[in-house]
Amino acid sequence: MNLLELRGLSRADVEGWLEAARAVRGGDPATLRRKHVGRRVALLFFEASTRTRFSFEAAAQGLGADVLAFSAAASSTTKGESMLDTARLLVAVGAEVLVVRDTAVGAPRHLADRLGVAVINAGDGTHEHPTQGLLDALTLVDALGPLDGKVVAIVGDIRHSRVARSALAALTALGATVRLCGPAPLLPAGLAGSKVVLAATIDEAIAGADAVMMLRIQRERASGPTFSSVEAYRRGWALTEARAATLPPHTVVLHPAPMNRGVEIDDVVADGPRSRILDQQRNGVWVRMAALDRAWRAT
Ligand code: NCD
Repeated sequence: MNLLELRGLSRADVEGWLEAARAVRGGDPATLRRKHVGRRVALLFFEASTRTRFSFEAAAQGLGADVLAFSAAASSTTKGESMLDTARLLVAVGAEVLVVRDTAVGAPRHLADRLGVAVINAGDGTHEHPTQGLLDALTLVDALGPLDGKVVAIVGDIRHSRVARSALAALTALGATVRLCGPAPLLPAGLAGSKVVLAATIDEAIAGADAVMMLRIQRERASGPTFSSVEAYRRGWALTEARAATLPPHTVVLHPAPMNRGVEIDDVVADGPRSRILDQQRNGVWVRMAALDRAWRAT
């Protein structure tokens, strides 16, 4: 079974994913390690990754499977081999699931449509990052309980963020309202909807919010300059210690990482009691185990 995007999933679909991740989290590690012995997953990362890659690797190992890890910089793509030919090779040597990250929107679907194996999207350009959206949802439900009526502010470079798009789909499916906020050129008006509000300032976005998700400026995806200076960005859009102090006591803080400390988020906030950033990273492994388990069960 493919996992390409969260957009369009129903509440029951998203809840089903969270239930599956919780079942793995509560499972016996030794039993889980026997579950998919001899199965192979290929990690095809044509774009930089630290967390997502390690997390899929740990997830595959936790299920007893073997990992064929591919890294574009050290492969024959540098000799002009296409992504499709590379993927065909990995299927030929036994991969039944491909985990794909690429700079191009739709690359995972392109492979899924052409190869008879399950594909999991690990981030395609500015489109989606579905396992990230699910781990964000799981972390928020752990922290806040059911999300009906809860308000989540997502602040930063929304335009280039696949994380924001997947989180938006998962959180609104679970009944949350999302406030999107960032510098005007980085805030696409097209995302506004019945449960999605655009906020003009960070102070408006975070006022009374139950959760605040901070995003990095994704310079590598932007075509022109995105803001005048780090100082100006910090003044306008960072979750500083002073701004975090205005949040209600129960409000939690998320960040998909990599973080630019001192730019969009202060150290004391990232490492403070509100932060659920390490929980996100831990939950990522459970979500990815659930995704791999479903993919193998369907093959
Ligand atoms: C993100 C990504 O690559 O989309 N990182 C991640 O997977 N946790 C976010 C980012 O690059 O800013």
